[in-house]
Amino acid sequence: MPPVPAIELNDGNAIPQFGFGVFQIEPAETAEAVARALEVGYRHVDTAQMYENEREVGEGVRRSGLERGEVYITSKLSNASHRPEDARRSFDETLTKLGSDYVDLFLIHWPLPTRYDGDFVSTWRTLEDFHREGRARSIGVSNFEAAHLERLAAECEVVPAANQIELHPYFQNEEVRRYGEEHGIATQAWSPIAQGRVLGDETIVGIAERLGRSPAQVTLRWHIQRGNIVFPKSTTPARIEENFALFDFELEPEDIRGIDSLDRGEAGRDGPHPNRFDGS
Ligand SMILES: NC(=O)c1ccc[n+]([C@@H]2O[C@H](COP(=O)([O-])OP(=O)(O)OC[C@H]3O[C@@H](n4cnc5c(N)ncnc54)[C@H](OP(=O)(O)O)[C@@H]3O)[C@@H](O)[C@H]2O)c1
Repeated sequence: MPPVPAIELNDGNAIPQFGFGVFQIEPAETAEAVARALEVGYRHVDTAQMYENEREVGEGVRRSGLERGEVYITSKLSNASHRPEDARRSFDETLTKLGSDYVDLFLIHWPLPTRYDGDFVSTWRTLEDFHREGRARSIGVSNFEAAHLERLAAECEVVPAANQIELHPYFQNEEVRRYGEEHGIATQAWSPIAQGRVLGDETIVGIAERLGRSPAQVTLRWHIQRGNIVFPKSTTPARIEENFALFDFELEPEDIRGIDSLDRGEAGRDGPHPNRFDGS
């Protein structure tokens, strides 16, 4: 299997373009799922304080026998911990739970513009401290709209290395993705297969049948060729393997255009709108 491509971030660090997401994996199942993914060849794990499985992610990495430096780990700040003193305390806990003195990438999970008096700027400055201290090798955001990113650009020093946003064939979030492309912010696509919702789509199924691949592989390959960073979640061993088998085939430009045309705009969004979500 050819290696997973790396994407260079605006701070000079590299992130594997493909990884393993652990949202909604029960703590009791997480270490085994992570160890399985690492055995298959994944080298990037995406967790969050709110997933409540950081400790088990750390355990899965240790169980794999890989060195810490061989696995890229992302975590995200809890919606409950935006105040600088809470962010510091919870970031310390993240490192303790992971059993590591650094995280590769740390994100503000949601901007929460209707909470904390709309102040995500002091939260971001706290992440800038983690970066300066070397405890977060890279820092970024998640679910930030272009206007939120503009505010960071105007008031802060460090441009986020990445913005992790909902993005899949039915909701391509193009304005935010393009803002990232134009400002050197890598786009990470969460729910890359829309939690399975796009897998019965006739365009995707048609391409999959022609290529002898699964609909999930075709969708994930579309993300890779569009330049998105993705980390599908699965606790099913056969799917963990299937989702990794993306680097020995390519979609034709007309296949890419066919999947591009499935965008439903706002109607395709599954998650809450970042302008309104207050984290509860
Ligand atoms: N920043 C944010 O706000 C945010 C929000 C959501 C997600 N995320 C991140 O993005 C990651 C991925 O998103 P997600 O977990 O929401 O959804 P996803 O990866 O799009 O889909 C996961 C679902 O699809 C199923 N599945 C996986 N591979 C499959 C395959 N090959 N064929 C058929 N079904 C398959 C899984 O089932 P089984 O497990 O039963 O196999 C699971 O139910 C998360 O784990 C998390 O790390 C971030």
